[in-house]
Amino acid sequence: MDDYGDGVYADVEGFGQRLDEWSSEHFRTRDARSHKQDILSSGIKPRGTCPVLRNMIEQVSTNAGAATTRARRDGPIGWWLLVCCVLVFGMVVLGGVTRLTGSGLSMVNWKPVSGVLPPLDQAAWDREFEHYRDSPEYATVNKGMSLDDFKGIFWFEYAHRLLGRLIGAVFLIPFLYFLIRRRLQPSLAPQLVTMFVLGGLQGLLGWYMVKSGLVDDARVSQYRLAAHLGLAMLIYVFMLWTALGVLRRGVSTKPRGWSRLAPLTMILVVAVFITMMSGAFVAGLKAGFSYNTFPLMAGKLVPDGMWSVTPAYLNLFENVTTVQFNHRVLAIATFLAIIVLWLVARRMNLSRSQRLWIHATAVAAVVQVALGISTLVMRVPVPLAALHQAGAMVLLTVLLCLAYEARYRC
Ligand code: HEM
Repeated sequence: MDDYGDGVYADVEGFGQRLDEWSSEHFRTRDARSHKQDILSSGIKPRGTCPVLRNMIEQVSTNAGAATTRARRDGPIGWWLLVCCVLVFGMVVLGGVTRLTGSGLSMVNWKPVSGVLPPLDQAAWDREFEHYRDSPEYATVNKGMSLDDFKGIFWFEYAHRLLGRLIGAVFLIPFLYFLIRRRLQPSLAPQLVTMFVLGGLQGLLGWYMVKSGLVDDARVSQYRLAAHLGLAMLIYVFMLWTALGVLRRGVSTKPRGWSRLAPLTMILVVAVFITMMSGAFVAGLKAGFSYNTFPLMAGKLVPDGMWSVTPAYLNLFENVTTVQFNHRVLAIATFLAIIVLWLVARRMNLSRSQRLWIHATAVAAVVQVALGISTLVMRVPVPLAALHQAGAMVLLTVLLCLAYEARYRC
């Protein structure tokens, strides 16, 4: 059979696929000019001199140049988004510490612009403390608190708000720069605007949450706390997914089809998200201070009093017993699903990076469950509970990286 016969055309597909796999790894590391030579000396050679295959090499070589240029142009944008992700991660953990140290209601006013500066002299501190002494939390929880103790809780809430403003600036200034220099892909600009709007909404939601604790009952609404954490997670997921897309653009621009791994990891991302939301209700109701044993709750696997509130659906959000039980069940189910995926994936034909992210996900899940149980049985010590919150974000992060690898680099 000659080069133009069935044998060669059957071979075109196999060759193209091998060339594609080889080149997607290769383009990340090599300069565009050397691509063609590299391809020709790579050992991936077509049999004979089939013009179709020669064309493919030309095409891949041209694409390589474009991909390298794109990677150079998009790199700073991807890294900038990753820096924003790190800041949002820090913001979630700092928010948790602020809640756990009982600092969240220490600033009773919201001044988006003038509030950048903390009290700078004694008179300013006295004024700030005076405002706090008028608040229900002071009257019911911290009566008789000294100015020094007040400063202790003030600084956490102040740092949380300041970091929020910093994230706004770190996002907005480079965004405007990239926009003015026309460095943004047309599809990216609307996504970045959406992120910025969501960030602004998150600030408003934070204040709406604080306001729920500035009334007679000095307790932040668990619904608003969950909404605040949920929106933070949404922004984080959106930003990280976009950053991965921008950084990977030089390697692979479009989905390579759904492997078996991709839908499974997407389901797990949703499961972790829901488990985290249920954790927010545990935190909001301070449900971690009850039933401090594991796996039993008051000596039973399924405790009494799960449906004592009417109407029944309110038990899911307002009954300490049910909320804690649900968090346990969701967490353990998510954990087991991750371990099953880890076991199943050992028999799948995966890339090195997919394998790495699967191991990282399994380790993060084990650590997270261990942290959750320790937080519970030790009655919510601040460092452990803060680590448990950070652990949830780490788990979400590695799972998203795995989901991205599964979706775009099968
Ligand atoms: C996949 C595993 C888990 C995830 C993703 C997860 C996630 C979370 C999150 C995000 C919070 C805090 C929300 C907030 O501060 O607003 C939380 C709180 C909590 N979780 Fe988990 N959790 C997991 C496993 C567990 C387990 C197995 C237990 C114990 C049986 C547990 C016990 C707790 C407790 C007691 C709190 C409240 C701590 C506090 O008041 O700060 N968690 N969880």
